[in-house]
Amino acid sequence: MKKLLIVEDKESLALMLKETVEAEGLEADVASNGAEAMRTLAAGRRYFAVLTDLRLPGADGISVLKQVKESDPDCAVIVMTAFGTIENAVEAMKLGAFDFIEKPIDVDRLILLLRRCREHRELIHENLLLKEEFQQRYRLPAIIGESPRIVEVSQAIQRVAPTDSTVLLQGESGTGKELFARAIHQLSPRRDRSFVAINCAAIPDTLIENELFGHEKGSFTGATARQIGKFELADGGTIFLDEIGDLGAAVQAKILRALQERTFERVGGTATVDVDVRIVCATNRNLTEDVKTARFREDLFFRINVFPVTIPPLRARKQDIDALTDFFIQRLARDLGKPGLRIGDAARALLRSYEWPGNIRELENCLERAAILCERKTIEARDLQLFPNGADAEAAVREALDLSGTLGEATERAVRLAERLKIADALRTTATRNDAAELLGIAPRTLAAKMKELGLD
Ligand SMILES: Nc1ncnc2c1ncn2[C@@H]1O[C@H](COP(=O)(O)OP(=O)(O)OP(=O)(O)O)[C@@H](O)[C@H]1O
Ligand SMILES: [Mg+2]
Repeated sequence: MKKLLIVEDKESLALMLKETVEAEGLEADVASNGAEAMRTLAAGRRYFAVLTDLRLPGADGISVLKQVKESDPDCAVIVMTAFGTIENAVEAMKLGAFDFIEKPIDVDRLILLLRRCREHRELIHENLLLKEEFQQRYRLPAIIGESPRIVEVSQAIQRVAPTDSTVLLQGESGTGKELFARAIHQLSPRRDRSFVAINCAAIPDTLIENELFGHEKGSFTGATARQIGKFELADGGTIFLDEIGDLGAAVQAKILRALQERTFERVGGTATVDVDVRIVCATNRNLTEDVKTARFREDLFFRINVFPVTIPPLRARKQDIDALTDFFIQRLARDLGKPGLRIGDAARALLRSYEWPGNIRELENCLERAAILCERKTIEARDLQLFPNGADAEAAVREALDLSGTLGEATERAVRLAERLKIADALRTTATRNDAAELLGIAPRTLAAKMKELGLD
């Protein structure tokens, strides 16, 4: 924004100011009295600043200032004061003026002031962006689903979130463990402090201690400075130990004390560090089994199994598929810039019947892929590239094959269907009928006869 409003009744001065401003590469509107300025502002014209005389015919500069602050609080107001009217300038500052400038106008000072106004405006704008980004990032994640099992999980989480209890989230891959971990943090009194996630499965055992507890300067070659670890980073907030079931035996022993007493030493250090952290763990392994087979330490299991929450797989709550689909489609329409993106009925039915071994993440990815590849507004079943399995596969086959009548009749129809599909595919992927016949392993004459019989000519 580079437009300024000048409110000045002396025409020659107004003109001089306008020219000065324009020489700086800015633009200016001029109002010759308070009433005109008020009309311009009320009409919704936006300015980065208003430069106004204090003594004006009609409404005075103070009224203009008040009007600006009401209609656009971020717009800076500079008041021009005549010699000896400093009290008025003070009053203007109290009412929120950005600054004042004395007459006769010192052009250099005016230009400087205008630059500051524009910087000020940009800062406000950047702040707004930051704030929005902040809210985006830290707002409560949307948890979609109304099936009894997910409602139960949500309620458990709402109850435990405000406490400091350790929570263990268990569930298959892609069921939403991380989403719920973040929700716990957001619903807790720690929400303004950090949420620090660490994926225990992604870090080699030899590095994880350093990652969790940090190190002292000189503790190993390359440790040129003290570095704090995730536990210290999360002080006052929440630490999320994701895939805790994948920790090796040595590391399990090392984190036991940190979880128990919230104290530890940095690698290579002797000083004990105390932290105040809320612990949330997650795993897709069956820890009870792992304890039995001694893969996971029993004492560590007891430490983390304070408030266990099991997140059901998507196939156990198929009634949520529709709502999740709508949610993802809406988000994709927005993120991919495809307004009006929707999903066809057959596609929806296919999504409902699929088993989703990869759970919600798989559903999300499937829809994203379809939305990107699909050039139409409506995603159809074939865009999903999903192949039903298990019981649903059988249902799909039954639907495609007409199994009525005798065995002979049903088989004959099945054979014809297979022939029709094979021949159509061969014709589509080859240039000539001879090539198609070769691909099918039959003579061109046989192909011609079959095509006639099946009505493919
Ligand atoms: N109930 C839900 N509502 C909306 N989105 C969800 C829901 N549950 C999961 N998701 C989304 O599904 C995706 C997978 O969830 P998340 O990463 O939390 O799963 P996870 O259990 O941690 O998986 P993994 O074991 O693979 O790490 C994320 O994009 C998440 O936002
Ligand atoms: Mg996860």
